[in-house]
Amino acid sequence: MASMETFECIRKRRAVREFRDSHVPQQALMRILEAGRLSPSSKNTQPWHFIVIRDRETLKTLGGLSPTGRHISGAPLAVAIVMDHAKLPEIDGARAAQNMVLAAWEAGLGTCWIANWDEVRVKKLLGVPKDLDLLTILPFGFPTVLTVRRKKMRKPLGDITHAEMFRRPLQGFASDA
Ligand SMILES: Cc1cc2nc3c(=O)[nH]c(=O)nc-3n(C[C@H](O)[C@H](O)[C@H](O)COP(=O)(O)O)c2cc1C
Repeated sequence: MASMETFECIRKRRAVREFRDSHVPQQALMRILEAGRLSPSSKNTQPWHFIVIRDRETLKTLGGLSPTGRHISGAPLAVAIVMDHAKLPEIDGARAAQNMVLAAWEAGLGTCWIANWDEVRVKKLLGVPKDLDLLTILPFGFPTVLTVRRKKMRKPLGDITHAEMFRRPLQGFASDA
């Protein structure tokens, strides 16, 4: 599997909502899951579960149950991140998710975090216990060419950095998006 420098991976990654019609190789899926498993967590509690969804009907149904995640219907695969009773479930889970996203991108695969769904029906569909949190569903697949070429929109570094104190400009740093 080709290796990409970490910063390049961060710089080039895009949210991918359109997928090519090819399946995700087992080896790439393993890398994604391992990247999640190896993530750091508060007190090393590792409070996560990863549900791998490959069933076409389930993926389509999930798309219909996610107002901001219709694109899951066209993905060959998705991973739902379910959190145990953790002190900081969103922080721990988001770190696992981001590691998965970067490992996927290195393997040529794209994804896009989904944040909204019909809670009761999605949890029932995936068999998630009622008392556990479904943090996100990440659809994975090879991106279409157009998706990858989309410009990265970010605030300039000068708008979000400060020198020593809030609102003191940090001089001499320019970002190349
Ligand atoms: C916490 C979080 C929730 C998001 N929820 C959604 C979502 O529900 N649907 C969607 O299409 N994109 C979602 N996104 C993707 C963002 O819109 C996207 O990452 C952002 O516009 C920047 O674009 P880029 O990832 O291509 O750089 C989410 C991203 C994050 C980090």
